[in-house]
Amino acid sequence: MSASETAHLDPETPNIARIYDYYLGGAFNLPADRERADRIKSVLPGMEMLARFNRGFLRRAVAYLLDQGITQFLDLGSGLPTAGNTHEVAQARDPRAKVVYVDYEPVAVALGRRILRANPGAVMVEADARRPEEVFAHPRVREVLDLSRPLGVMMTGVMVFVGDHEDPVGLMKSYRDLCAPGSHIALSQLTDECADPETKVQVRAMVEAYRGVIEQLYVRDRAGVEALFEGMPLVEPGVTLMPDWRPHADTDIATGSPAHGLGYAAVGRVD
Ligand SMILES: C[S@@+](CC[C@H](N)C(=O)[O-])C[C@H]1O[C@@H](n2cnc3c(N)ncnc32)[C@H](O)[C@@H]1O
Repeated sequence: MSASETAHLDPETPNIARIYDYYLGGAFNLPADRERADRIKSVLPGMEMLARFNRGFLRRAVAYLLDQGITQFLDLGSGLPTAGNTHEVAQARDPRAKVVYVDYEPVAVALGRRILRANPGAVMVEADARRPEEVFAHPRVREVLDLSRPLGVMMTGVMVFVGDHEDPVGLMKSYRDLCAPGSHIALSQLTDECADPETKVQVRAMVEAYRGVIEQLYVRDRAGVEALFEGMPLVEPGVTLMPDWRPHADTDIATGSPAHGLGYAAVGRVD
């Protein structure tokens, strides 16, 4: 990016979406983001791999949903539309596929809109994923997506920002109720349930190292993830570690990486 392109994107403040883009090998990050990302990686060396496992799950879940005939996606807590995000997978298979990206972080939304400016089938909306009625009432969501037809709702790496005090089970139920039957919800979630004591300490240090960029991250165990899907049948193989959800060869499987055990993934069907 040139200096003029980044001028109003708050270049001095590290940004969650651009830090994430850096982990994924993207081009939309700045020195302040890279400095903070490197600091986070120094306390949790598996951080980059964790981001890649998460994005790998997203890509396989989008491909699975396309196989089920779903061609429209609502991506909640999307980060930047780069580095193999939802529209890149969906539109590569079906150029008519529609994607609405939702993020509540204004810098990510401004940059995302710029990236998508020539793509009428993929738009970026500024909204809070914790307010499902507002998301579904948003004019751009209603314009781009046909809400009477099944949707692929992507919730990868976003429930980690929603604490139990915010009723995540009720939030999932609201999305389930708003979606047409046949829709699917794909979700990934940070966990330390399977981590050894040293890695558990690293995960806590990682959350601390994010301070100032985000307020808090919440880990969940397998039962906590299963509870989010209450009332929704899970697609096989159910809740798994992220790299184990329908793996295929083109995703970044690094056996032995400690990050392998740091995220759960699942896809549920709305009946
Ligand atoms: C870790 S990134 C995930 C990126 C992408 N979904 C993926 O899985 O690869 C999380 C993104 O969620 C956004 N986010 C967190 N809480 C949110 C909320 N309540 N509403 C909308 N976006 C949110 C953050 O701003 C950030 O860009």
